[in-house]
This record gives sequence, structure tokens and C-alpha cells, in this order.
Amino acid sequence: MMVLGIETSCDETAAALVTDGREIRANVVFSQLDQHAPYGGVVPEIAARSHIEHLDGVIAHAMREGGVGFSDLDAIAATAGPGLIGAVMVGLMTGKAVAGVHNLPFAAVNHLEGHALSARLTDEHLQFPYLLLLVSGGHCQFLAVEGVARYQRLGTTIDDAAGEAFDKAAKLLELGYPGGPAIEQAARDGDAERFDLPRPLKGRPGSDFSFSGLKTALLHKVRDIEGGLNDKDRADLAASFQAAVTDVVIDRGRNAIRQFQTKHPEGQALVAAGGVAANSLLRKRLKSLAEKNGMTLSVPPLALCTDNAAMIAWAGIERLGHNLVDELNAAPRARWPLDVDAPRPPGAGRTGKRGPKA
Ligand code: KG4
Ligand code: ZN
Repeated sequence: MMVLGIETSCDETAAALVTDGREIRANVVFSQLDQHAPYGGVVPEIAARSHIEHLDGVIAHAMREGGVGFSDLDAIAATAGPGLIGAVMVGLMTGKAVAGVHNLPFAAVNHLEGHALSARLTDEHLQFPYLLLLVSGGHCQFLAVEGVARYQRLGTTIDDAAGEAFDKAAKLLELGYPGGPAIEQAARDGDAERFDLPRPLKGRPGSDFSFSGLKTALLHKVRDIEGGLNDKDRADLAASFQAAVTDVVIDRGRNAIRQFQTKHPEGQALVAAGGVAANSLLRKRLKSLAEKNGMTLSVPPLALCTDNAAMIAWAGIERLGHNLVDELNAAPRARWPLDVDAPRPPGAGRTGKRGPKA
């Protein structure tokens, strides 16, 4: 079975060809980063227009790279949300059009489900249930992944996502956008002990996150440095910030593992996905956290951690394997939680969220 996956929920225009034998025949991502960088964040209108301009070419590129024609496809999977609504519509409509014209089954995929299942594309031994840490620019949550279309949210952020915190911190330190890789790079030569930054919610029950206080504390440290920041200050602030975020994720992770193991004593894996899972300090500490709790850490390769269409194609394959086929009138959704029954975390929505990027 060969599936064409399409992803346009934020600022990556992506198409991929994946088989049910876990072969990635093509994985093409066109990043709009340069178009949004002058604004310091993603501009929804620019994103939607750019998807319209590039999606046909990106799909043609994937088909060429995979060496297949439309008649070789068995199904189409496209992201139907959550995300920037104009952006989501472009990929979803295109996917429906291809499915309609070629009379193929269609999967309207939740972008978060794409992230949640991506580790199973490259790790054939990864069995349900597993504990997922989804850490990206728009999301920061722990989920029990019990099976295809069966997700239970254990904890989530009450204000910013971890990636968003990295991006804002990098802006404060004038390190550029996107901030996560820039902070990690600057932190390499930094002293993580020099600045005493808070660890919000550390030691509290549950596995919710909060990062906005940390960002404000960083702002105060920056303001306290007379005469502006030099490279040493920047490196030390970046290292201190990275250590604080990591400490928080590990502390929350300890509780999430307890929550998960209570319900699923047979679960053996901790999976990390999303752009922030690229951070090497975080990966190292997650690995030792998992091992201390008798679990293994599984992280998809970097190209599958950040936004891509291979994870959408794979989620489509998993869904179609459970006969979860969608009609061609499936609606685009700006908001679409994976666990629709999850209660809102205490204090949620008190600060402005950056946007629905996952
Ligand atoms: O999953 P992703 O590509 O896009 C979505 O948000 O959906 O994640 C992007 C986020 C950005 O906030 C970026 O700063 C962060 O992931 N990120 C990192 C690193 N690489 C990317 N954060 C920390 N360390 C990194 N090495
Ligand atoms: Zn994402």
C-alpha cells in the first residue's frame, strides 16, 4: 500500500510517499521560514498564500522522487487540523481533489496524531501503549497513546509551549529565529549555573507545564546586565535557560510516567516528538529518566520530529488499517485536541498563546 501524505497546517509545505511496509519513498518539505523570519513569527495570510503557490510543485517533486504516478497510489492522507485555518484548507482541499479524481480512499489526519504515531514509522518494535511527550512550537503535552485513535492527555501547558519559550528567549537574547537551535548552539559554551532561573510547577503534582514565568525571569536577568549583553552573557543565559526548561520537563516527566504506569503497567516506551525533541540535553536527560523507570526512550529521526508529511502519510496508513476512512466533505479545523475528553488545565488561557502551530 502506497500513500501520498500532504501537510500544510503551519509554515511547512510538505508531501511524502510512504508504504505500509514502512518505506519512505519521498519526504519533501518546503520551509517558508525565510518568508516569516522578518516578522519574528508565522504570519497566517502569508503561510496560506505560500502553500497555494508551492504545494503542486512539492507534490510533483515527491512523486518524481518516489518514481510513481497517481495510478500507483492506494490512498491519500492530508492534515485536516489543528493549525492555521487558511493554511490547513490548502492541503486538505488538494488532498480531497486528488482522492476524488483518482477515486482513492481518503484520510483526514489530525496533525497531532501524525506526531503521536511518527515513532512507529521508524521503530517497528514500538508497541501500544506508550507515553508520548509532544514538545513543539505550539504544543507541550504528555499523552498516553493507547492505540490508533485512542489518546489520553495526562498533562499540558497552561501558558506557553516549550518551543515557544525557546523562541521567545532567543528573541530576548538577540539570537534569531527559530530560537531552539540558536539557544542550544549558544549554550554549548555557557555556564548553566551562573543565572538562577525559576523552575515553574517543579515539585507540584500532575504533569502540566508552565513557561511564561521563566521567560519573564529571563527578561529581568537581561535587564539587570548593565551596558548590554556580551557573548559570554548570552552563552551563560542560554545555558541557564536551557537547563531550567529541561529540569521542568524532566520533573513533569517523572510524574507523567507515574500516571502512565499506574494505568498501563505493561507500557514500556517513552516517546518524544516535535521540534524541541531535537535538543540534545533534553534527549540525554529523557533517556536517563526513561531508563531509571524501566522504560526505553524512542525518538524519531530529526526529519520526522519537525513538521513533515511522512508522519501524515503514516498516520493515514494506521487509520486506514483500522478502517477509519473519511468522506471527502471532512472539515478543516483550527482547533482539534487529540483527547476531546481532557479537562482544560487550571489557569489555561491566562496568557496569550502564540498560535495553533503544533
Ligand atoms: O515541530 P516543529 O518543527 O514545529 C511546530 O511547532 O509544529 O517545532 C518547532 C519548534 C520551534 O519552537 C523551535 O525553536 C524548536 O521546535 N526547536 C528546538 C530545537 N530545534 C527546534 N528547541 C530546542 N532545541 C532545539 N535544538
Ligand atoms: Zn507539528
